[in-house]
Amino acid sequence: MADQYAQAREDNRPPGIPALRWEEPPEGPVLVLLDQTRLPAQEVELVCTDAPALVEAIRSLAVRGAPLLGIAGAYGVALAAARGFDVDDAADALAGARPTAVNLSVGVHRARSAYHTALAETGDPLLAAPAALAAARQLHREDARASARMAEHGLALLDELLPAGGHRILTHCNTGALVSGGEGTAFAVALAAHRAGRLRRLWVDETRPLLQGARLTAYEAARNGLAYTLLADNAAGSLFAAGEVDAVLIGADRIAADGSVANKVGSYPLAVLARYHHVPFIVVAPVTTVDERTPDGASIEVEQRPGHEVTELAAPQVPGTGAGGGIPVAPLGTQAYNPAFDVTPPELVTAIVTEQGALSPVTAEGLAELCARSRRA
Ligand code: MRU
Repeated sequence: MADQYAQAREDNRPPGIPALRWEEPPEGPVLVLLDQTRLPAQEVELVCTDAPALVEAIRSLAVRGAPLLGIAGAYGVALAAARGFDVDDAADALAGARPTAVNLSVGVHRARSAYHTALAETGDPLLAAPAALAAARQLHREDARASARMAEHGLALLDELLPAGGHRILTHCNTGALVSGGEGTAFAVALAAHRAGRLRRLWVDETRPLLQGARLTAYEAARNGLAYTLLADNAAGSLFAAGEVDAVLIGADRIAADGSVANKVGSYPLAVLARYHHVPFIVVAPVTTVDERTPDGASIEVEQRPGHEVTELAAPQVPGTGAGGGIPVAPLGTQAYNPAFDVTPPELVTAIVTEQGALSPVTAEGLAELCARSRRA
């Protein structure tokens, strides 16, 4: 076991390809994505020349994670504008590509509003296009700054809740640089603890069915030299029972006005386990993930994904067949229940950490105050 941990620490290479970037080659602007469906085996880039290609990349999870979806959506609007496509059609398609992460529609809305304001002033769609790009770049920078602030606030909270130090943190899904303009949300807090010498171990849930934990969080943990251990999702209970978890840190796709948290399916069972074992359950998310227009958890639309993601071992979908083309792990024709997210009620959440600070206990009033503070900033 010790060798395996040493190996992870030695694998301390510099950060890989950024999750996305805007480029302007002579043939016209493009959005370049690191194809997250191919990680960790291959670092392959996907080049999107129009919004439909980006919509497909979002649906297939080549680009994913709430904050990054917002940034990608904003760049997608900028791409449509710069290439002379119908901006409103592109914006509608992008915003509807996945329903749960509110950041996607927030990012699309920001770039679209900037475009329309500039269009009203100039009357020329091509002169208005740079405004959409400027809005996307601004959102990208803001997210990087928010990520750094969340890491600071999150580490301060961990140190306060766990004064003994040597934090053993359990995380679910992937919340690092692959989902952010910066170093991420929950993962950025674990990274800050690691750099401060206060992370004893990062427990990484594999995150069935698409293995964002095994494929992506383990990839980021290895690259950054964290002491990490991967576990099957259903091993979490015995890990808590053995007293091996000091805190749970997760991200969020949408936080309703009452503090209900939608995140990768499997988050809610962790919250229940954490409560039973008296372990803090901490959600780390930028204020852009708080949706004041969604009143409660029951109002959050949870994305239902195709059954083949459960009945076959992860593999890209075979276009037009409805099949995954992966290795079958269930009899042909088996029906599967495959919600992409679940919702954790606010009473199970110890704290929500945002760039505006940590909120604990989680109340509707406290969240509204955080949002108001963010608007004033
Ligand atoms: O389906 P995914 O991979 O897009 O789901 C991502 C998650 O659930 C993340 O935990 C969430 O977006 C928070 S990322 C900061």
